[in-house]
Amino acid sequence: MPDDCIYLDNHATTRCDPRVVEAMLPYFTERYGNAGSINHPFGWEAKDAVDAARSSIAAALNAGEREIVFTGGATESNNLAIKGVAERARKKGNHIVSLATEHKSVVDVLDKLSRRDYEVTLVPVEPIGDAAHPSPTCGLVDVGRIAEALRPDTILVSVMAANNEIGVLQPIAEIGKLCRERGIAFHCDATQAVGKIAVDVATWNVDLLSFSAHKIYGPKGVGGLYVRRSSPPVRLAPQIDGGGQEAGFRSGTLNVPGIVGFAKALELCVAELPMESARQGELRDRLYSGLSAELEGVGLNGPALDRPELRLAGNLNCSFAYVDGEALMMSMKRLAVSSGSACTSANPEPSHVLRALGLGDDLTRASLRFGLGRFTTAEEIEAAIRLTADSVRQLRRLSSMA
Ligand SMILES: Cc1ncc(COP(=O)(O)O)c(C=O)c1O
Repeated sequence: MPDDCIYLDNHATTRCDPRVVEAMLPYFTERYGNAGSINHPFGWEAKDAVDAARSSIAAALNAGEREIVFTGGATESNNLAIKGVAERARKKGNHIVSLATEHKSVVDVLDKLSRRDYEVTLVPVEPIGDAAHPSPTCGLVDVGRIAEALRPDTILVSVMAANNEIGVLQPIAEIGKLCRERGIAFHCDATQAVGKIAVDVATWNVDLLSFSAHKIYGPKGVGGLYVRRSSPPVRLAPQIDGGGQEAGFRSGTLNVPGIVGFAKALELCVAELPMESARQGELRDRLYSGLSAELEGVGLNGPALDRPELRLAGNLNCSFAYVDGEALMMSMKRLAVSSGSACTSANPEPSHVLRALGLGDDLTRASLRFGLGRFTTAEEIEAAIRLTADSVRQLRRLSSMA
């Protein structure tokens, strides 16, 4: 990795915070017991660490300790939530409502279920508008459209809190209220929201909530699923069977160091949240104003920047007219950004999220996602403006000569 490469891909993953690594280290080498070993102190010590992490994570989300299930990441949490409810509620109905802009780990699960005997309605979101009249609420879902999609046989609504590509924040509390009134289970993929905005499972009225450690400066391969256990409890079919860990919802030996790191990472995010979101929001605004001052034809994908209640502070997704998207990505050697969801980078198709906004394929391909994070500096933002502007100008020059 070149030393001068700038990391602006914090929606894909984040650097593990050294304070998190420090908290985890003893659980690899000295306190290496299995949290399921109930007969000796090594196991007790590991279980104590998992219990402490669980209660700290539960407190951060305003959940009960028994309601946190540790998984191998948010992809697994989403699979467990959606397939788990779909299987258990099959006698009641087979209809699921979600958004066209969900993460692949939701969209693909729904696609698979729709090829079995489930029906899925994907509700559209507010389109982007045109260059002269961009929509300030681009990407947002209208809760009325969700209400219209509900049917007597609807068993689940799944809506993400924060979009991983355009950073739009959906009205989760309103959707939760609607689902609660109708007695429909509500799952929220909060992978990009936890640690970045205030998340409260009680006021949000969610029944299931997915999240992941590596998006919040914690380790990779550890996730969580909040599962409501009372008034009313969620009925969920486990997807991994075995030793019965995690109250039977997710068997398998617990990743003790990972779980300890997860709790530490979330604790740090919650403590630093107001300061970090203000700092990242300012840097993000500077990035956009810098790019727009240097270049013509810069479009904003997602809600207006002056609507902080509608977007993640660290997200900027822009299209660059008159350049070839692939050439743009190839030319950005010193800038680690993403041209779509990092989780689908093996798939060269234009982003389904940007398409769902009504952005044409050319502009979708010529879009870049900048993901700012805790370690992003003002100097890096200035360098990112220069690098992007130079690349776009050069590509436009080359294409005008062709
Ligand atoms: C919104 C969203 N959901 C789910 C996931 C999957 O998370 P994980 O990498 O922990 O499986 C991601 C990862 O990019 C995401 O952004």
